Amino acid sequence: MAHHLIFSEIGLGMQKTNVTAATRERLFRAARRVMKNAYAPFSNFRVGAAILTSKGQIFVGCNVENSSYGMTNCAERTAIFSAIAKDGPDLEIQAVAVVNAQSVPCSPCGACRQVIYEFGPRTVIFYQSEEGPKQSLITDLLPEGFRLK
Ligand code: THU
Repeated sequence: MAHHLIFSEIGLGMQKTNVTAATRERLFRAARRVMKNAYAPFSNFRVGAAILTSKGQIFVGCNVENSSYGMTNCAERTAIFSAIAKDGPDLEIQAVAVVNAQSVPCSPCGACRQVIYEFGPRTVIFYQSEEGPKQSLITDLLPEGFRLK
């Protein structure tokens, strides 16, 4: 396989990333697996997310809803918070994959974009769009992201 073909830029958008297609598929598989654990009795919209860290580890999360709707935690933030709970705050996110059980277009919500940006201002995000699977840089999804440090 030609070297350039292994990179996930192919067919998913214009940005170059150094996340290989194989890694992208691993992330999608992990996200689909954890999606089954979602607690989503109010929306019935089950979401799974997987993050890739700069150390090459993968952490997963699902959405966890609440009777007090605003306390719902999205799959992406569950994955990020799990990574920090396990390995501490020196988290650097390289990539995020997000999927839902309905296979409808779904990219991370605004709150999750801000949290992703905090731990990975160069993160590439793989998600479902109207045109099928897509990838975007977090800086395109969240221009002018806010940081205190
Ligand atoms: N949700 C996520 O977990 N991630 C997203 O990227 C979009 C929305 C969840 C929140 C809520 O439990 C359900 O999907 C419907 O909004």
